[in-house]
Amino acid sequence: MSNVDVILKEGLAALDAAADLVELEQVKARYLGKSGALTELLKQLGKLSPEERKSAGATINAAKQAFETRHNEVRDGFNAAKLAAQLAAESLDVTLPGRGITPAGLHPVTLTLERITGLFATMGFEVADGPEIESDFHNFQALNIPENHPARAMQDTFYVEGGDVLRTHTSPIQVRYMLDNQPPIKIVAPGRVYRVDSDATHSPMFHQMEGLWIDQNVSFADLKATITEFLRRFFERDDMQVRFRPSFFPFTETSAEIDVLDEQGRWLEVGGSGMVHPNVLRNVGIDPEKYTGFAFGIGLDRFAMLRYGVNDLRLFFENDLTFLKQFN
Ligand code: DAH
Repeated sequence: MSNVDVILKEGLAALDAAADLVELEQVKARYLGKSGALTELLKQLGKLSPEERKSAGATINAAKQAFETRHNEVRDGFNAAKLAAQLAAESLDVTLPGRGITPAGLHPVTLTLERITGLFATMGFEVADGPEIESDFHNFQALNIPENHPARAMQDTFYVEGGDVLRTHTSPIQVRYMLDNQPPIKIVAPGRVYRVDSDATHSPMFHQMEGLWIDQNVSFADLKATITEFLRRFFERDDMQVRFRPSFFPFTETSAEIDVLDEQGRWLEVGGSGMVHPNVLRNVGIDPEKYTGFAFGIGLDRFAMLRYGVNDLRLFFENDLTFLKQFN
């Protein structure tokens, strides 16, 4: 075998043995580079006689061509494999089921709140708001609950450093609204309230909605008519039995608990109400000789429980989607 054949044979074997494109190019350089094995042979042609040069040149060029052809084949093989691997890695299985879009929904207490404010809106009540961290003045004193008064024990309170409280009811929104506005006043004010209390029907955080209507000649008859109308619309029962049971609240005089008769014939308390106490009106700069009115506070969670037949208040605040999805 001639020298050329030996070099070509080794070269082709080296091309075949290359592990990747980088190695392949290194092999090519070893044979066809500036001082590659085949290149060196070509360089030596000059030393030969013209006849010898002709045939030797043809042999070496044929070997060079054979090497280049094999090099291209191996390179194309690597490129094809690389592309195939890339396609496989990026492949998309279009038969997989989609993840889907889960529609969001409103919380049952929010649904109830919106339904109730909507019903009161049809009776001319606007929606008012207030802060959840309240001053002692707005939460108690202005509502005719002085410091050290036993009525404070009715609402076990979370105190905040500095003497403020997490509001124990939505009634301080009445105070804020009346300080800022003169009658006629006709508002409802929903929100979160806080008390040191926790069992199946009490949660340390719960929701109330306050109502307030102050004008000339607003009477207890208006209180009864407004609340009864609201309850009948809320429960969608024209024959809903409503009872106003005499009670006591420091911020109302006369005061009454609001009870409804359920389908089993039991009276359920759903809120408190009464004629706004003259002291409260005086505390916020409204003349009780000229204006009267009524207020009420209802438990929104209780309304949501009754409407949806939920028997444990804590279900509303556990964020269990299986429970919550039933309402949307
Ligand atoms: N604030 C009272 C409570 O949380 C509820 C209440 C009773 C509000 C009578 C009122 C009212 O506005 O007139 O227990």
